[in-house]
Amino acid sequence: MNIRFEVVAREDYSDVTYMLEVRHPLMAHAAQPGQFVIAMSHREGERIPLTIADFDRQKGTITLVIQAAGKTTMEMQRKCKVGTSLYGLVGPMGIPSHVSCAKKVVCVGGGLGVAPIYPQARAFKENGAYVIGILGFRNKELIFWGDKFGSICDELIICTDDGSAGLKGFVTDGMRLAIGKHSDIDEVIAIGPPIMMKACADVTRAHSIKTMVSLNPIMVDGTGMCGGCRVKIGEKVRFACVDGPDFDGHQVDFDDLMMRLRRYKEEERVATERWLDTCRMVVPNENSSALMH
Ligand SMILES: Cc1cc2nc3c(=O)[nH]c(=O)nc-3n(C[C@H](O)[C@H](O)[C@H](O)COP(=O)(O)OP(=O)(O)OC[C@H]3O[C@@H](n4cnc5c(N)ncnc54)[C@H](O)[C@@H]3O)c2cc1C
Ligand code: FES
Repeated sequence: MNIRFEVVAREDYSDVTYMLEVRHPLMAHAAQPGQFVIAMSHREGERIPLTIADFDRQKGTITLVIQAAGKTTMEMQRKCKVGTSLYGLVGPMGIPSHVSCAKKVVCVGGGLGVAPIYPQARAFKENGAYVIGILGFRNKELIFWGDKFGSICDELIICTDDGSAGLKGFVTDGMRLAIGKHSDIDEVIAIGPPIMMKACADVTRAHSIKTMVSLNPIMVDGTGMCGGCRVKIGEKVRFACVDGPDFDGHQVDFDDLMMRLRRYKEEERVATERWLDTCRMVVPNENSSALMH
């Protein structure tokens, strides 16, 4: 059977961030906030984990928001155009986020973390919570999904590192603002780079506010078999792919996570360089059939 996971829409949010809407009716039907897929763009491609940033059960599509960080994500940025197909898409994987009956929640997304926090913010809103969204970007040019969040959040704070839009500062500055204004916040959910999630957890720890984070360790099989994604949560070791990816932010050993994420930096650099060299030598055919079944 020739299964195609067709890219039906694409939008580029910046030079490095792009959105793919992919047809997969069964996945769209089953997906829950917080889950992820393992994607392969072509037959020889690497399997990479990507969060399901949105899903539309009626259209039968899922949305992926991807940052071109290395070989595979750069290759996908170049090749995954509307009408092409991904070679493989496994999921939905991971334990869905627990959308509690909290009355007031703060959803914090930093950079690319803005995309995966969206389905959670929407689910809290649908559950009747008062939702405060805090989105952080390096600058105005990198902002995306402001409108989408605007339509589901009761309050929205946009922060930019350089002050080119919204509040000048980090998401933690936005959090301090929200916590200062609302003494009855039940829960904070923070998704972004590990250093950001660590800082968010430090802010809420001082106020004893429950804080959930979504971890992104290196994953290989995504099924709990290889141990590649192990993370330290309090005294315990957990596998983010099957026990997470959401965990109590106050229990996560972020330093260990960041150290493990750096382990293959040299191999990743070599693979990216090699791929870029190949691109320089070959005139790329943007509609290459290598991506098609
Ligand atoms: C649960 C989960 C959800 C994720 N969701 C998204 C998402 O929605 N959008 C997005 O752009 N990225 C997401 N990532 C990260 C994404 O998987 C990596 O950026 C990607 O694998 C990098 O591959 P590369 O070849 O392009 O870059 P590389 O040069 O190979 O790696 C760049 C960096 O990405 C990380 N990385 C590399 N390989 C893996 C791997 N197999 N698993 C996890 N991280 C890896 C490392 O920190 C590395 O330093 C997610 C990761 C996890 C674990
Ligand atoms: S990715 Fe292999 S155990 Fe989680």
